[in-house]
Amino acid sequence: MGSFISSSILLFFLFFPIVTPLPLSTNSRWIVDEGGRRVKLACVNWVSHLEPVLAEGLSKQPMDTLVKKVVSMGFNCVRFTWPLYLITNDSLASLTVRQSFQRLGLLESIAGIQANNPSIIDVTLIKAYQAVVSSLGENNVMVILDNHISTPGWCCSNFDGNGFFGDKYFNPDLWITGLTRMATLFNGVTNVIGMSLRNELRGQKQNVDDWYKYMQKGAEAVHSANPNVLVILSGLSYDKDLSFIQNRPVKLTFNGKLVFEVHWYGFSDGQAWVTGNPNEVCGRVARNVMRTSGYLVDQGYPLFVSEFGVDQRGINVNDNRYLNCFMGVAAELDLDWALWTLVGSYYLREGVIGLNEYYGVLNYNWCETRNSSFLQRISTLQSPFRGPGLSEAKLHKVIFHPLTGLCVLRKSLLDPLRLGSCTDSDAWSYTSQKTLVVKGTYFCLEADESGTAAKLSIMCTDSSSKWEMISESKMHLSTKFKDGKSVCLDVSSDNTIITNSCKCISKGNTCDPSSQWFKLVDSTRRSSGKQSLLQYLPGTGFVSNLLVGPIQKAII
Ligand SMILES: *[C@@H]1O[C@H](CO)[C@@H](O)[C@H](O)[C@H]1NC(C)=O
Ligand SMILES: *[C@@H]1O[C@H](CO)[C@@H](O)[C@H](O)[C@H]1NC(C)=O
Repeated sequence: MGSFISSSILLFFLFFPIVTPLPLSTNSRWIVDEGGRRVKLACVNWVSHLEPVLAEGLSKQPMDTLVKKVVSMGFNCVRFTWPLYLITNDSLASLTVRQSFQRLGLLESIAGIQANNPSIIDVTLIKAYQAVVSSLGENNVMVILDNHISTPGWCCSNFDGNGFFGDKYFNPDLWITGLTRMATLFNGVTNVIGMSLRNELRGQKQNVDDWYKYMQKGAEAVHSANPNVLVILSGLSYDKDLSFIQNRPVKLTFNGKLVFEVHWYGFSDGQAWVTGNPNEVCGRVARNVMRTSGYLVDQGYPLFVSEFGVDQRGINVNDNRYLNCFMGVAAELDLDWALWTLVGSYYLREGVIGLNEYYGVLNYNWCETRNSSFLQRISTLQSPFRGPGLSEAKLHKVIFHPLTGLCVLRKSLLDPLRLGSCTDSDAWSYTSQKTLVVKGTYFCLEADESGTAAKLSIMCTDSSSKWEMISESKMHLSTKFKDGKSVCLDVSSDNTIITNSCKCISKGNTCDPSSQWFKLVDSTRRSSGKQSLLQYLPGTGFVSNLLVGPIQKAII
């Protein structure tokens, strides 16, 4: 028995080496764990607020399989949606899963749930919701309970009666009752780390005074029922607008738990991305996001982008262009976020049975990932660049490439600069002379000829070693040769870093500058293992030797 216990403990530590010490709280703009160490929320939205009021996908795969997929895709958290009536309407709350699907005529789904998740088919809807939260907890996945809507169904429109306090289906008192019940029910469930009080406030009735009146009341109600959870507040106009916080802070009786959430999609700006010049649109939209929500991080509040996403087939130009811009901002601000969505297909959405969700990371059958290159691309954003308790390296820059989610790396002096995992990035500094220097060395980035590889050089006073962030997006890294001709940093098809003439600087909506978009991102990530030899060169005399050649072989 004794050896059984000790070997299970050993196994436990082998397989669950890092468990975040919960609960979470806030430290200025960062979300931190019990030890004060930053926890970056890298969540995925899991829908459970549509008519059947069951977490989607349970007719396709066992719950535990789905949860393990969430983990294997690199997410540490789920934003788990629920409709208010799940907890306030007795006739809904008392339905079993089977009855809920029967009343909607979803017989095929019943058979699927029976086959894949027999343990929940005859339990009540709220028990099934709790079972999913438990399964996530068993796999160390954090959960944010998101009150998405009142009446079960697809969200959101200005006229659905669910938009703002006082709308037909949005009674503020009932909402407070529901939040209190939900917070109480999950008090003591440690992986529930936050509650989103209400998704996408909107519609004719929306106004700032009522926002403060009810959101503060809701926050207090949640906190009294469950002081462990982060209290997450959505803005107005479909959670795009939190500009009003600037002049009027939220007043709460407690500290260290307040987080704001914002939504940002391609379609948040209609068809602007496809009809406009991508540099101009990215500059304008990103400035607008900073003005309406991004500024909050500078004011010392965590900002959680609780919904973003794209059609993962890559066929929606509006979405594709937006994503390039979004990735830059999300990396630069190192935001917490939740991708829309885990869902591969819905039991029933807007009257369609089995609707395919092209914004979902899983495919129709919830079996495989829909697009592995998309996941690869966002994986850089799944770990923090910086934050309290993480500073393994001194603050430096990484040169981030939003189109690929990769960073500019050098393997050795002989190899050209390439894109690679940001985790392996060198520490760069962007000096006041506008050079990009590899920290701790004399080497800086220099353009050679247009169309050829950029290189590391020690000629850091050359004009072609000075880099400016230009264009309306401010995402082009541009340099000038002695003759005054400008080029921009670019990436070739084999991921080599080259320079080329700058793309889409003037108006026009047909060209795509995204291969030339970069962001200089603040980071304290320590380069994983591959500390390059160049680090040791200064002061050893090797630098000048390197220029003449043979010594290179000796040290590399
Ligand atoms: C409660 O839910 C049932 C079933 O969905 C619905 O018919 C009824 O109108 C709801 N009651 C209230 C008060 O919203
Ligand atoms: C994945 O996304 C990329 C980029 O948008 C696209 O080119 C590719 O066709 C997509 N793959 C699939 C399988 O949809």
